[in-house]
Amino acid sequence: MKKAIIVLPTYNEKENVKVLIPQIFTLTRASEKWDVHILVVDDKSPDGTSQEIRKLQKKFKNLHLIEGEKQGLGTAYVRGFTYALKQVHADVIFEMDADCQHPPDLIPKFLTALEKGADFVIGSRYIRGGSIPEQWTADRKFYSIMGNLIARFGFMSISVHDWTSGFRAMKSSFLKEIISDMHGYNGYVFQIALLDKARKKGLKIVEVPLQFIERFEGSSKFNPSKYILESISYIVSNSPFIKFVIVGLVGFVIDFSIAVLLITTFDMFKPHANAISAEIAIVSNFVLNNFWSFSHKKIDHSTYSYISKFTHFNVISSGSILIQWFGMFVTLHIFGDKMLRVAIFSIPSWIIYKMFIIAFLIIPYSYVMYNYIIWNNSAKA
Ligand code: GDD
Ligand code: MN
Repeated sequence: MKKAIIVLPTYNEKENVKVLIPQIFTLTRASEKWDVHILVVDDKSPDGTSQEIRKLQKKFKNLHLIEGEKQGLGTAYVRGFTYALKQVHADVIFEMDADCQHPPDLIPKFLTALEKGADFVIGSRYIRGGSIPEQWTADRKFYSIMGNLIARFGFMSISVHDWTSGFRAMKSSFLKEIISDMHGYNGYVFQIALLDKARKKGLKIVEVPLQFIERFEGSSKFNPSKYILESISYIVSNSPFIKFVIVGLVGFVIDFSIAVLLITTFDMFKPHANAISAEIAIVSNFVLNNFWSFSHKKIDHSTYSYISKFTHFNVISSGSILIQWFGMFVTLHIFGDKMLRVAIFSIPSWIIYKMFIIAFLIIPYSYVMYNYIIWNNSAKA
């Protein structure tokens, strides 16, 4: 039998654990494939949650308890995962809220998904069949939906619908590899960071619909403004897409400044000057993307591989030039070449077209091409 352990972080959840823990054991008792354990990570809850767990331990032999100081949800999970790996030797580890917001009858569904080959299962509120509590106030709904959209689009990872769900199950082999990188994320941003690591490791991620219901007893410890700030800061420093956009902006500045320099100072023939500046920007983009934006990708570092990648990179960049050319041709043809008034400024219309072409065609095109053709994981030696 394989071992699964459900890690329940608790802070003042006495009334909730009384209900939830027996429910979980009842639901999973009959399983022939899984030996299910529960680990409560309590942070000295003043309401006496840990005393309640000790009472329950008399009845349930697979119930574990560890206690610590209150340092936030992420820290509680790191302690819980470490215990689950080292003391319990679990094969599968769950994250779950202890406040009865996560229906335990999903646990067998998560296990089935893992048996079928998933590495990381998410109880997802934002797929068909999933939902957030109707009773939630408008601002709580807003934070939840916004937090998710920021993560989904910030990482350009549209395929995962719920980045912040706290109900998940994963193979312990994954946690063993990354647990030492998880110490810095104390609060709820821990959830985003963990999923980001799972994606970067190339895990098979499966979502199961979750109807997230309202709390049973007690109150939420969620701090929205702290959460949004931490999420944005995590995404900006860890998203290859955001880094890629920053590299693109640097490339744009380089391209433009060198062209101006060559034309005004050296009086160079304009097409020559632009070709030289564009190629220098391409080299800069290549180097920065390789060592920064896509540095997490497993790639071969041989000279041959760099030359081959750089050649591909140039071909893809020429594709952008073609898109620019056609985009400009089509927009000028349809909307005309004129001066536009924007507030107090008068701007040639082609600059506006160019901005749209870059934002909606060039950036998505090159990001997808670089990701799948140059810095793809399977391109290793
Ligand atoms: N040990 C410990 N220490 N437990 C904590 C701490 C802490 O500092 N903070 C929260 N918890 C426990 C709570 O007792 C509960 O069991 C669980 O973590 C979730 O906390 P809630 O305070 O109920 O969070 P929520 O329902 O508002 O937030 C939900 O949505 C977030 C964003 O979508 C949860 O599902 C989160 O996991 C999720 O990230
Ligand atoms: Mn909750």
